[in-house]
Amino acid sequence: SSNESAAGIAHVYRGTFVHATYHTAVEILEDGLLGVDTEGKIAFIGSGKEVDRLSQKWGFEAFAVTQLGQHEFFMPGMVDTHIHASQYSYAGTALDMPLLQWLNMYTFPVEACYKDLEFARNVYTHIVKRTLRNGTTTACYFATIHTDASLLLGQIANDFGQRALVGKVCMDTNNFFPHYKETLDESEGETNRFIGELLKKKYPLVRPVVTPRFAPSCSATLLGHLGEIAQNNDLHIQSHISETKEEVNLVKELFPDYDSYTDVYHRHNLLTDKTVMAHGCHLTDGELKLFRETGASIAHCPNSNISLCSGMLDVRRVLNHKVKLGLGTDVAGGYSPSMLDAVRRTLDTSKALTIQDTQYHTLTFEEVFRLATLGGSQALSLDENTGNFEVGKDFDALRVNTDAAGGPIDLINHGEGPKVLLEKFLNLGDDRNIVEVYVAGKRVVPFVERP
Ligand code: GUN
Ligand code: FE
Repeated sequence: SSNESAAGIAHVYRGTFVHATYHTAVEILEDGLLGVDTEGKIAFIGSGKEVDRLSQKWGFEAFAVTQLGQHEFFMPGMVDTHIHASQYSYAGTALDMPLLQWLNMYTFPVEACYKDLEFARNVYTHIVKRTLRNGTTTACYFATIHTDASLLLGQIANDFGQRALVGKVCMDTNNFFPHYKETLDESEGETNRFIGELLKKKYPLVRPVVTPRFAPSCSATLLGHLGEIAQNNDLHIQSHISETKEEVNLVKELFPDYDSYTDVYHRHNLLTDKTVMAHGCHLTDGELKLFRETGASIAHCPNSNISLCSGMLDVRRVLNHKVKLGLGTDVAGGYSPSMLDAVRRTLDTSKALTIQDTQYHTLTFEEVFRLATLGGSQALSLDENTGNFEVGKDFDALRVNTDAAGGPIDLINHGEGPKVLLEKFLNLGDDRNIVEVYVAGKRVVPFVERP
């Protein structure tokens, strides 16, 4: 038939598959059969009962099929739509100040260290491994202002096989910590060098993302140049928006001629369907409308929003505005690099909003599962290639075993079906339950020891 892939079949898996689709938050295929071709794409997905017919049709040996265990399932890899790789060195500390003080006291001094490439290599290797083994198959990273260290982050993601957007941070304004900033010319020139050199490497799963830190650390001229660079090269864009009320007020002071914080980015061509903005806790309806119209998305970072006392994003309101939304860890404002934590904090925040207003339409675990997978892919405009188990997409998957030896889930025999196993994994599971991770068909966890 016409949708048959030209490449041969490399692997076939049989067992339970759990994923989100565009119309169902959790779709479950029991005794499914999924074939991955030699390019890492999903060639077919069908029923295990049809293994003989499918092995004939696709030319694989039925005995070579990998059979999942009774307490196992495959789910799509999780998508971290916002994480500062460079801040991992102090994750789990320094959560005692509001955002703007936190940046000056803790963040800028640490980020300044990344002019040392060996320091960068050490932290970047740790964060890529940590996120991969916790099930993050796609990460949208902030690095620092240093081009060479940012290129190194791209190389490390490529080496370990993680799908990644990597941003060299741009900031030509820093009144509080003047050691850590660039001139306007450096910021523009180094952004062009970063993009050019990263694209030249031709890493199959790693792309550059234009990264103004946030409006308060950028001149209007720099914002304009970055908008142009993104437009001319059709690139992704990431930044922060409306994380705290103090920051919103600061932007009003710094950019008095604009209608809103969102308008500052919009008027510099920084809101596109390849833009992801972190936080957005305090956006107005008018601003959300602008997100909807431009196709820009929001990275919801609940651990960070709570840890820095920034605000509680009303995810239901964002979804009602039909604005794309994914989940982010926001390390180190968020203390956990695990997307399972982002799932739990998203549910907690929704329940806190329900405590305040019992009429609130609380998010379900199924909805949050979708946000952590397909929703994140949509937010990063990568859902043509990843996010769920559709034929033609890359096989980005977690092999979950809810009964892993020594793991955190006790299965008391209630005859738990796959939906309950998914719920337990999301609420109680950890990396011990993630026994294998695949990105574009390639097994990347457990790590292969390399020379
Ligand atoms: N706003 C500008 N920079 C940052 C950052 O590094 N972390 C967070 N959480 N918000 C920011
Ligand atoms: Fe952030």
